Amino acid sequence: MELESRKYSNVVIRRATMEDLEEVGRIERLSFPNPYPRSFLYQLYFSFPEGFLVAELEGRIVGYVITRMRSRTEGHVVAIAVDPEYRGRGIGKSLVLRAMKILREKGSRRVRLEVRVSNEVAISLYKSLGFEIEGVIRRYYMDGEDAYLMYKYFEDEGEEKGLIGRIGSLIRGP
Ligand SMILES: CC(C)(COP(=O)(O)OP(=O)(O)OC[C@H]1O[C@@H](n2cnc3c(N)ncnc32)[C@H](O)[C@@H]1OP(=O)(O)O)[C@@H](O)C(=O)NCCC(=O)NCCS
Repeated sequence: MELESRKYSNVVIRRATMEDLEEVGRIERLSFPNPYPRSFLYQLYFSFPEGFLVAELEGRIVGYVITRMRSRTEGHVVAIAVDPEYRGRGIGKSLVLRAMKILREKGSRRVRLEVRVSNEVAISLYKSLGFEIEGVIRRYYMDGEDAYLMYKYFEDEGEEKGLIGRIGSLIRGP
């Protein structure tokens, strides 16, 4: 018998449509103690639709990420969640990666986010993508929990270019 793959290869990450927002709300309510009200999700969607992405698996919405531009050069991950049944299979990482690409294309030189200090899974996800903790925001959440403020900086030249540069310097002769 073939072993079930841990990762899904057929997950599609795409821009959300208005029709997706009900499902986004469902995952939001399953994922957060104080979920965003539907009206706020619509507001976020209309203010920056290109940065509102969903993960779709066989016609079902299984995750989403909401981003915005805080300023001309700073992107912000406002919210991300994956349906509890589909966690731990790379969907969250794919969503953040795609979101960072969009924020970068929109002119971000850095991306900011806040995360509960107790949310080890999310912190580990963000660190694996190059985010670093830069501070603590006391009592950021409604229940009084603190948030870590995390940032990811994009290299000026682009990571690929930087990598080529590093390889180049290794193979260059004396
Ligand atoms: C945080 C969340 C979006 C991650 O989504 P996911 O699809 O489960 O994450 P992935 O499978 O893409 O995992 C990405 C990384 O997260 C970390 N991670 C995932 N599951 C983990 C677990 N159970 N324990 C520790 N780290 C874990 C790992 O670093 C992993 O990278 P790796 O697979 O290369 O080791 C998801 O757990 C979720 O929806 N949580 C509830 C909502 C939430 O907390 N959102 C964040 C608010 S700031």
